[in-house]
Amino acid sequence: MKTGFVVITLAAAVSGGCGWTSRENLQASVTYSKDVAPLLSKYCVECHQHGGIAPFPLQTYEHAKSYKGSIVRAILSRHMPPFGADDTGLPIQNSLWMSDTEIDVFESWLAQGAERGENIAPLRPSRSPFVIENPSIEPKMAEPYQPNVTSERDEFRCFVLDATASEYSFLTAIDVIPGVKQQVHHAVIFQLDKEAQGNAEAADAQDPLPGYDCGSGMFFGSIVHVWAPGMGAVKFHPGTGVLIYPGTESSGKFLMQIHYSYYPGGPLPDQTKVQMAFGTQTPSRLITVSGINNVNFSIPACSAPPCAPHTSEHRVTYGSATRIYGIFPHMHRLGVQIQLNLTRNGQTTRLVNVPKYDFHWQRFYFLETPLDIAVGDELSISCTWVNNRNEVVTVGERTIDEMCLAFTYQEF
Ligand code: HEC
Repeated sequence: MKTGFVVITLAAAVSGGCGWTSRENLQASVTYSKDVAPLLSKYCVECHQHGGIAPFPLQTYEHAKSYKGSIVRAILSRHMPPFGADDTGLPIQNSLWMSDTEIDVFESWLAQGAERGENIAPLRPSRSPFVIENPSIEPKMAEPYQPNVTSERDEFRCFVLDATASEYSFLTAIDVIPGVKQQVHHAVIFQLDKEAQGNAEAADAQDPLPGYDCGSGMFFGSIVHVWAPGMGAVKFHPGTGVLIYPGTESSGKFLMQIHYSYYPGGPLPDQTKVQMAFGTQTPSRLITVSGINNVNFSIPACSAPPCAPHTSEHRVTYGSATRIYGIFPHMHRLGVQIQLNLTRNGQTTRLVNVPKYDFHWQRFYFLETPLDIAVGDELSISCTWVNNRNEVVTVGERTIDEMCLAFTYQEF
């Protein structure tokens, strides 16, 4: 039923509604070149291209055909494209959330024998990611590090970076350039104050290898950026910027926490760098990474499957007005769904909903239109986990603990 309906809509759109009568004919109309290829270039090719971060390209009919089964499975399960926020919240910049109709196209294509249609040129991504042309500074890991990961074990490692700002500056765009893109799954950039820098440098000095092991913890100073693969460079909304203070002997350095994960062919020595662009003018609005953090939850143990989902909600009321530009929802491995809502005068608006949370694919969702918050507005975060372990799980920084928080880029 569902498939037939979609195919008819599509066929009507391309044929102008004339000529085709039987349903068999209509169904036969889904082809790679006409229907599937445009969706691949819109949603997949930016990563699935030669030299991209994905393990194989999806740029030709032959590529798509040889992976057809896994493509459809990955799309149906919403594992791919790796973009967790659905379309029930506020509009998000460069969203990769596929509509059900688009998903049906892939299903129908597979069901009908994955036809080629006309010959077409190899696909290119439909949008070119923003890149920082002339970074003001490029702090990087002082030396390459060979991650200590296996297919069972990820690593979280912290590095004090080698460059700082020479004067008070306003960050207007930032990017992270992974040394080995297949294994850098996440990077959080902090600017350290005096105490945090002392702690970081002491920990670094104790570890004979570059950097030091820093768990999955995320709190080391003020967060400048949270990066995930596929995000590309971030350019903050016009007229806004993050204040960066100058590096001195004892403080002001950047710390980068990297989440390394295993990939076939790795691990390889990695030397990741950060690109920062500073604005020439003082921005009219300073922004900073802030957030909402639910620390009061206890996920019951599960002695035998099926283990029931457990949800916990946390609310904060704003005492001053602000403006939110971006939201980064975060849980650990047991997380299955996370949602943020805003209640004003009894009316609730959904901000972001991630219906199939994937620990490996977290990202900052930048709102198309910044959201103004008024005094008295209530922000809520709701997290759902499925605990398959026979022990209670509570808040903590280790990957086996859980979290329920969201970072926000918001007005300072
Ligand atoms: C942001 C980058 C990115 C985008 C966009 C993306 N992929 Fe992937 N894809 C990856 C990476 C990295 C992997 C390997 C790691 C993993 O599976 O999470 C992968 C793995 C896969 C796999 C193998 C794993 C599996 O689940 O079977 C398939 C199939 C796949 N992608 C299909 C697609 C399709 C189809 C699209 C578009 C609808 C797409 N991908 C969009 C990065 C991406």
